[in-house]
Amino acid sequence: MAKITIDPGAAFLYPMPMVLVGSVVDGKANFMAVGWVSRVNYKPPLFAIALGPHHTNKGIDANREFSINIPDISLIEKADYCGMVSGGKSDKSDLFKVFFGSLGHAPLIEECPVGMSLSLFDTVKLPFNTLYIGEVKEVFTEERYLTDKVVDISKLNPFTLSMPDNQYWAVGEKLGRAWNIGKRLKQ
Ligand SMILES: Cc1cc2nc3c(=O)[nH]c(=O)nc-3n(C[C@H](O)[C@H](O)[C@H](O)COP(=O)(O)O)c2cc1C
Repeated sequence: MAKITIDPGAAFLYPMPMVLVGSVVDGKANFMAVGWVSRVNYKPPLFAIALGPHHTNKGIDANREFSINIPDISLIEKADYCGMVSGGKSDKSDLFKVFFGSLGHAPLIEECPVGMSLSLFDTVKLPFNTLYIGEVKEVFTEERYLTDKVVDISKLNPFTLSMPDNQYWAVGEKLGRAWNIGKRLKQ
């Protein structure tokens, strides 16, 4: 099949996870929607989020702490709102039930199946975005989201994002075990 090229600016991964990043800005909890997020180190567990210039950045820069919360489909409307409205203009602190772990500037969302508190490990200035790399200090979940003591994606009901068409997607069916399904080709 003949390949065609598309605009490099339209290059994305399909799908992207959708999270809510929490910070404390001027003493108030604030949450923003983030699709540009990934785990980037094994030990210690590090996550990177790529942020444009947002209200959230002020809180992370000042306090060197933030949270990553994984919303489920029931929170899609609120999550989208957090991606459209700045905490600099509207108070988003009472959208969710907020709690804190041991990091006092990493607000966590009670309604989210998984939430992590992170301390800032490094900041990388890129031409437009800033990459905030955080080390996970605590992970909060509930027994009902676990199978054999680990988080089970089929119990989370997370949603994902595609760009540049800007659509949310549910997660599809399980296909098989990783580090296993390719074994036959090793022989
Ligand atoms: C689906 C979705 C994904 C988003 N992903 C990102 C992202 O990865 N990085 C970013 O800087 N902004 C992202 N945004 C935009 C911010 O969430 C948005 O500008 C938000 O209002 C910033 O909040 P704040 O000003 O309170 O910090 C996203 C928005 C939406 C709707």
